[in-house]
Amino acid sequence: MWALTLYRSTIGKKMIMAVTGLVLVVFVIGHMAGNLQQFLGPGRMNAYAAFLKSTGELLWIARLGLLAATVLHVLMAYQLTQIKRAARPIDYTRREPQVSTLASRTMRWGGVLLLVFIVFHILHFTTGTVFPVASRPDAQYPAFSHTDVYGNVVSAFRNPWVVLFYVVAMLFLLLHLFHGAWSSVRTLGLSKPSPDPLHRRVSTVIAVVVWLGFTAIPVAVFFGVIR
Ligand code: HEM
Repeated sequence: MWALTLYRSTIGKKMIMAVTGLVLVVFVIGHMAGNLQQFLGPGRMNAYAAFLKSTGELLWIARLGLLAATVLHVLMAYQLTQIKRAARPIDYTRREPQVSTLASRTMRWGGVLLLVFIVFHILHFTTGTVFPVASRPDAQYPAFSHTDVYGNVVSAFRNPWVVLFYVVAMLFLLLHLFHGAWSSVRTLGLSKPSPDPLHRRVSTVIAVVVWLGFTAIPVAVFFGVIR
């Protein structure tokens, strides 16, 4: 079967990585744009969250699609790393980067960090499992609520450690998106060879806009712009 042949080849794995990566890029753009409604107040933000939850099966289809894309993306990254290591069992003793960028050199470890971030993030904002609980009468943070997403975001980012964690994670997202978005287009052969390709400029804009949009929220809560 052609799909199996593709999956077994190195280029096939790279193509799966590129396609699933682009699916995740579309998700982060949408998620960032939706989250910016936090600046419009609790009414808008909570109505948006309630609308997403009201879509029922559609929401679950989107969640399963995202999960499948993430699992395949991580699995291909792992398999390609193993293939690379098998081809060069003894690493270079000395390596001086010539044309690689910081973004390209941090894809592997940055990717692992983003995976840790996503697991934490779902336990934080979707399930409320790792949310600071107001167990004491003098507790600083109101408890997690499944209906008040706006309130959850505000109380979470009153904690400077949580803000720091999100800000650092978003810097890794910036690097990962910057390299991933343009190299996936190249892997799929969607662009003509050029010293300054358009898709590289487009990926830079996407990476910076997504980074700014996401980072603005914890920072705005921390400085009291959103309260
Ligand atoms: C400062 C940045 C971010 C903020 C403030 C934020 C906020 C939120 C909130 C409030 C929810 C829960 C929504 C609800 O229950 O209605 C959520 C869910 C989620 N976020 Fe984020 N997010 C951020 C960054 C990210 C990033 C960078 C990713 C992926 C790389 C991501 C992936 C997800 C996923 C997968 C869910 C679960 C969606 C679901 O429940 O189906 N988020 N986010």
